[in-house]
Amino acid sequence: MVELKSTSEIAAMREAGRVVAGILAAIREQASVGTSLGELDELARERLAQAGARSPFLNYHPRFAPSPYPAVICASVNDVIVHGIPDGYRLRDGDLLSVDCGAQLDGWTGDAATSLIVGEARPEDQRLIEAAESALRAAIEAARPGGRLGDLGHAIGTVGRGLGYGIPPRWGGHGIGRAMHEEPDVPNEGRPGRGLRLVPGLVLAIEPMFLAGGRDAFRLAPDGWAVRTADGSRAAHAEHTVAVTADGPRVLTID
Ligand code: MF3
Ligand code: CO
Repeated sequence: MVELKSTSEIAAMREAGRVVAGILAAIREQASVGTSLGELDELARERLAQAGARSPFLNYHPRFAPSPYPAVICASVNDVIVHGIPDGYRLRDGDLLSVDCGAQLDGWTGDAATSLIVGEARPEDQRLIEAAESALRAAIEAARPGGRLGDLGHAIGTVGRGLGYGIPPRWGGHGIGRAMHEEPDVPNEGRPGRGLRLVPGLVLAIEPMFLAGGRDAFRLAPDGWAVRTADGSRAAHAEHTVAVTADGPRVLTID
């Protein structure tokens, strides 16, 4: 069932989103050559604690995973598309890092992700990240009353396919509220004018991910969490939590 949120509930989600945005901004500043992924997770844990927020990632155990998630961020490097578990790996010059973070504040959840390049960027990596961000912006623009859920996937798919990138079919966005993953699923490809009608109070985490190699195939890492490109090419990921309101889309995971 799709649960719509009231104006005051959206205001509460906005505060959770602010915490997430602050953490991602801090991680963007901190991530440099030599920083370990575990240090970035530690930074996120400290900021969540300071904000009085809990992590919706930590100990999350969906059906697809063999074990509870052990961290508060996902740190996905190079060919890891999403759900990389932060470990002792130290970032190297030219790495493409995607960071995903969630926060639950007063029972309401925010979920967002950003991609960045450590040190000197390869132009093709920069283009991949910019494409994911521009697809996210296009999907956010489509998240307004009168539209349909398929408009979001259509917006994302048009950007990604237009540039020749792969889009893994199984992974995408989701409804969000008290729980991190609620109905509906928000696929990264779709048909315009089709699917659920978008109405005020619908809150969605929209999360395009693009694969540089142009293939859609992915593989799960032995840890059962990290999703990698099958061809070893790099991937970028961007995500915001967005409320559909009578005035149009409202991004909740910003400062
Ligand atoms: N934004 C990611 C998603 O919705 C967050 C995953 S959290 C994890 O899939 F705990 F499942 F890793
Ligand atoms: Co998400």
